[in-house]
Amino acid sequence: MTRKTDMTVVVTGASGRTGSRVARAAQAAGLTVRPATRAQGFDWADRSTWAQALRGADAAYLVHPGDVGSAAATRAVGLLAHEAVSLGVRRLVLLSARGEEQARPTEEALRESAADWTVVQAAWFMQNFSEGPLVEGLRLGGELVFPGGEVREPFIDVRDIADVVVAVLLAGDRYVGKAVDVSGPRLLTFGEAVAEIAKATGRELTYKPVPPRAYGEYLAGLGVPDEEVELLVEVFETLLDGRNSHLSDGVQRVLGREPRDFADFAAQAAAAGTWRA
Ligand SMILES: NC(=O)c1ccc[n+]([C@@H]2O[C@H](COP(=O)([O-])OP(=O)(O)OC[C@H]3O[C@@H](n4cnc5c(N)ncnc54)[C@H](OP(=O)(O)O)[C@@H]3O)[C@@H](O)[C@H]2O)c1
Repeated sequence: MTRKTDMTVVVTGASGRTGSRVARAAQAAGLTVRPATRAQGFDWADRSTWAQALRGADAAYLVHPGDVGSAAATRAVGLLAHEAVSLGVRRLVLLSARGEEQARPTEEALRESAADWTVVQAAWFMQNFSEGPLVEGLRLGGELVFPGGEVREPFIDVRDIADVVVAVLLAGDRYVGKAVDVSGPRLLTFGEAVAEIAKATGRELTYKPVPPRAYGEYLAGLGVPDEEVELLVEVFETLLDGRNSHLSDGVQRVLGREPRDFADFAAQAAAAGTWRA
């Protein structure tokens, strides 16, 4: 068996929210990190680019750039996992979404590959508020417009996802063939999360809930393709109906510590100037 610190791990999405932290945590743990984004010539949409990214590695962190519940993610994850196994890269960790029924076919496609798989099913990221499409509304307009209603969600810090992924990779067979549910330590409505950010920044910030369909129309107006809009509306309508309003203990079980709290995330991102207008 590969000695822990001899492990080379391919990190897809290494310039994104989770992948960048997985790369950092893996490096800190002494693993050799091989980033795989388009800058390195790896393209999820082009199978001819996969082998060069995978060959000679021991493990891979798989994060599809589209929603994990999309048909494109199911297809690409299944095909890539098969290719990885055929190249001897058996240890695969997939980022999935907690409570998202639409993501199950993608998880199933991974399982069918005969890889030594682990699925990390994550709650909503805290970093959705600080990195990505929701930031500008808060930063420039002082408002988060989102179809989150009054539902409570246990937002997770992506640094905890990264720590879990790396710990799982270092744990030998312990998490092979398992799904690990991870959430933050506290249930918050989207309004309460925005209030935490307002407190951390000293700015007046508001949350405006909108129906999922209206939000879909807004996304379509921004040029998001129809198929993607339909999936996102379906995901918002189902995932944010209260089914996820409970905590998971995956962080505690894998890392033996409590997950990071939203207030700490908000304070650190505020100090970094994330929401400064
Ligand atoms: N947001 C949430 O709360 C949440 C919760 C649970 C699960 N998820 C799942 O998390 C995933 C997104 O993860 P993330 O937020 O870490 O990613 P992200 O921040 O959106 O970044 C996407 C990454 O994928 C890369 N990428 C984009 N297009 C690519 C392509 N065609 N080929 C290769 N690489 C490509 C990007 O790099 P380059 O552009 O540099 O190539 C970037 O590194 C989705 O599957 C989502 O369903 C999200």
